[in-house]
Amino acid sequence: MAKLTILLYPNPFLLTKAKPVSRVDANIRKHADDMLETMYAEKGVGLAATQVGIPLRILVMDTSEEYNTPKILINPEIIRREGTRTVSEACLSFPGITIEVQRAEKIRVRTLTLENEIIEFEAEGLESQCLQHELDHIDGIVFTDHLSKLKRERANKKTIKVIRAYGLDDSAKEAS
Ligand code: NI
Repeated sequence: MAKLTILLYPNPFLLTKAKPVSRVDANIRKHADDMLETMYAEKGVGLAATQVGIPLRILVMDTSEEYNTPKILINPEIIRREGTRTVSEACLSFPGITIEVQRAEKIRVRTLTLENEIIEFEAEGLESQCLQHELDHIDGIVFTDHLSKLKRERANKKTIKVIRAYGLDDSAKEAS
């Protein structure tokens, strides 16, 4: 496994739409392993391939309380949404900011597993929220896109300030 560099806003790769995985092979398993290692190292609950410069529809997440239940989703899609709620979110690509966004309460997801099986499951709470956030990433949508123009500009500006203040922009340049 290898820890990957997380792309930070405003890296343009974050705004690209990822392509479906045509077949789960050793290469895809390696991407998933590396993404999990990176997510755990950064203490995130989810990570999308887009955030580490991989243009494929792969997500990893762990929303368990014990933080020991990794999930890997390949070509996931939301096939049903129910209810809405306002939630507070952070993103590894936007260090230092937390914003409120609207998400569906409950969702039903269809996804391919690493074993090349198509499964469906329902998610609610943090898992549902995280899945929607990460699914946005592989469609090239970042969470500040859900804000009004004014709030979005403010959040994006604050992110850039934090990135500069902590000297994080050099690592972002290396990866892009
Ligand atoms: Ni994110």
